[in-house]
Amino acid sequence: MSKAPFSDFRSDTVTQPTPAMRRAMAEAEVGDDVYGEDPTIARLEARTAELLGFESALFVPTGSMGNQISLRVHGRSGTEVIVEERSHVFHYEMGAMAALSGLLPRPVAGPGGRMPVSGIEAWIRPESVYYLPRTSVVCLENTHNFAGGTVLPRPAVEEVLFLARKRGLAVHLDGARLWNAAAALGVTEASLARGLDSVMVCFSKGLRAPVGSAVAGSKAFVAEARRVRKLFGGGMRQAGVLAAAALVALEEERGRLPEDHARLARLARELAGLRGVSLDPGAFPTNILIAELDPGVYGSATDALARLRERGILAGAAGGSSIRLVTHADVGDADVERCVGSFREISAGA
Ligand SMILES: Cc1ncc(COP(=O)(O)O)c(C=O)c1O
Repeated sequence: MSKAPFSDFRSDTVTQPTPAMRRAMAEAEVGDDVYGEDPTIARLEARTAELLGFESALFVPTGSMGNQISLRVHGRSGTEVIVEERSHVFHYEMGAMAALSGLLPRPVAGPGGRMPVSGIEAWIRPESVYYLPRTSVVCLENTHNFAGGTVLPRPAVEEVLFLARKRGLAVHLDGARLWNAAAALGVTEASLARGLDSVMVCFSKGLRAPVGSAVAGSKAFVAEARRVRKLFGGGMRQAGVLAAAALVALEEERGRLPEDHARLARLARELAGLRGVSLDPGAFPTNILIAELDPGVYGSATDALARLRERGILAGAAGGSSIRLVTHADVGDADVERCVGSFREISAGA
């Protein structure tokens, strides 16, 4: 499994499409999707809606576009969106909600990626004060990437939904890795999506498809989302070649995710015992871990990444002296051993 010279733990987006995906892409029946004529995209949208328990879904090029389309549909310009402070939609989408839709993010600190309901409630603007902006949307992330692939279980979602309903807010879920959350909890994706106003999912993260995400919701939501997708330049033509790979991803790759989680758990356990590594091995239930490294042992995070790279290990920066490691289909047990061995060497001053 180890693809020398590098074992690539940077992200679950670095995977190669499977032979079954490449075959499906070559054989896909396609049409012009701006005219609504691509049968493979139609199949992918129907299957995604079914898996998530929604009326309808829309294929979009990227997760970022899916999030931004959803926020634009739910929120009027000048209104506020409550987000977790390390969320992708706030941190890593280039201020798009402000730039594209005139929306103002209001970040709430969420330990482990989970915003406390009291924190959300505190940021909701009161209707009674006419000169304040209005709050329009709460955005959740499940799993939460930069909290270390943490999972939002159903009761936590319910609490947010209850508050949002009471205050008349839409709730959007960035479910780029909802598949991982469902696998970790042993529940269906639909059970985690129930009651939300929209959900974005990605086929191109742990599921190995080369391109593509979707947004799902009611028929009315998806009709609006289709218009906004075109506005944002995301109307695609014979993109059934991409949807074909995503369909294979949905049917053949979700069942494999527990293997990624087991490898990550093993990696976390082994790293936790090493000098200069701070991490709680119980804190990472899916395929992502964040390790804080003692600069006295590893140097800065940049130094640590360079020293790992010299040993054939690719990892990512995670802020301050922390780094991020992600398991996926293209890293196996040998890569995990190589990674642990490299940390051991560096921490021993080799
Ligand atoms: C939680 C989360 N949401 C959204 C995205 C955006 O997906 P894309 O890279 O397809 O725009 C990512 C990408 O890593 C992500 O981790």
